[in-house]
Amino acid sequence: MDQRTRDLVAAFRATYQTEPTAAVRAPGRVNLIGEHTDYNDGFCLPMAIERDVRVVLRPRSDATVRVFSLQEPGRPPVAFTLDGAIPKAVTPADRWADYVKGSAQVLGGTVALRGCDLALTGDVPLGSGLSSSAALEVATIRALLAAAGLSLDPVVIAKLAQRAENSYVGTNCGILDQLSSSCATLGQAMLMDCRSLALTPAPLPAGVAVVIADTGKRRGLVDSAYNERRAQCEAGAKALGVSHLRDATLHGLWQAAKAGRLDALALARCQHVVAENGRTQAAFACLRAGDAEALGQLMDQSHADLRDRFEVTCPELDDLVAIARSLPGCLGSRMTGAGFGGCTVSLVSLPAVAGFTASLGLKYRQLHPAMTPAIYVTGAAAGAGPLPLAP
Ligand code: GLA
Repeated sequence: MDQRTRDLVAAFRATYQTEPTAAVRAPGRVNLIGEHTDYNDGFCLPMAIERDVRVVLRPRSDATVRVFSLQEPGRPPVAFTLDGAIPKAVTPADRWADYVKGSAQVLGGTVALRGCDLALTGDVPLGSGLSSSAALEVATIRALLAAAGLSLDPVVIAKLAQRAENSYVGTNCGILDQLSSSCATLGQAMLMDCRSLALTPAPLPAGVAVVIADTGKRRGLVDSAYNERRAQCEAGAKALGVSHLRDATLHGLWQAAKAGRLDALALARCQHVVAENGRTQAAFACLRAGDAEALGQLMDQSHADLRDRFEVTCPELDDLVAIARSLPGCLGSRMTGAGFGGCTVSLVSLPAVAGFTASLGLKYRQLHPAMTPAIYVTGAAAGAGPLPLAP
């Protein structure tokens, strides 16, 4: 048990006056390439990061769930019952627990749950595009399953977590985040086929590090232009006569535009998605071939497309990427996640990593003095699972 888990166990003991019986964890993720493709039935190339949400638990003999978070210090546990519809938070301060409640609601519609006391902690930065909410949902589902003495396939857990986010929290996200958190393989990135949900692992090329940099700019998904982009993609697919843009080609897009079935904006949005699906499959081939330079170039192209044709970047993301690309040893850099703020991901040759992180932070602060660019160098972590509670 490491210090973070020990602190969580101590807080559990102090709050509930009893010992937890089990613990689980679920990681955040970074997407190397394949952005805004998941809800188009396309391809992504994520890996889990070395930051996670942890939950310790103890089953109860009734149907009550109590939960508190070390990330919400000083707040009493939120309590709800598993009998019937679970009401959402009434105060903004308790909204974090909606991810727990939504997961309980959706899971409770599938299997018979029992009440439990939960304590959670996390070091995935909140709202920064590294899937803190997916990690919380996946960890909650695993905790509730453990409390009920049940288990489910990790892909099924990911789908339930996505449903919690879509139907309870109200964010119309795809499956990328939850599937990454639930199913990642230690030491590997993975090609994710968002139609079949097949995952094919591939190691990162030797001699490079994945560096995540947080712009410090926050933008909630619910009130962002995310849903608008999604609707534009769906309208584009309809105009092309395909179920999803996964089935479209660049040639088909041109023809539809020429025939007046796609306007200039719809064409630009769809072109990004179709090109990004191609880039993501090419990036997977680069991983297989150990070609870090070619992978970096695809990441650069992805960012340019997200900036110019999909228009989901912002000045902070564009600046951070431009600074990264100006630094020695950087092979490629792009925004990661939904965009509009949040993080970039860069591929950096190992000997250059220390200089890269120092200069990136310094130069970004010169441009955006109000922002603190947290920087994380991360390996590829394992997907969600149990955590040992033994000392
Ligand atoms: C967010 C969503 C994902 C995905 C990405 C963009 O992270 O939760 O489903 O759509 O944005 O690739």
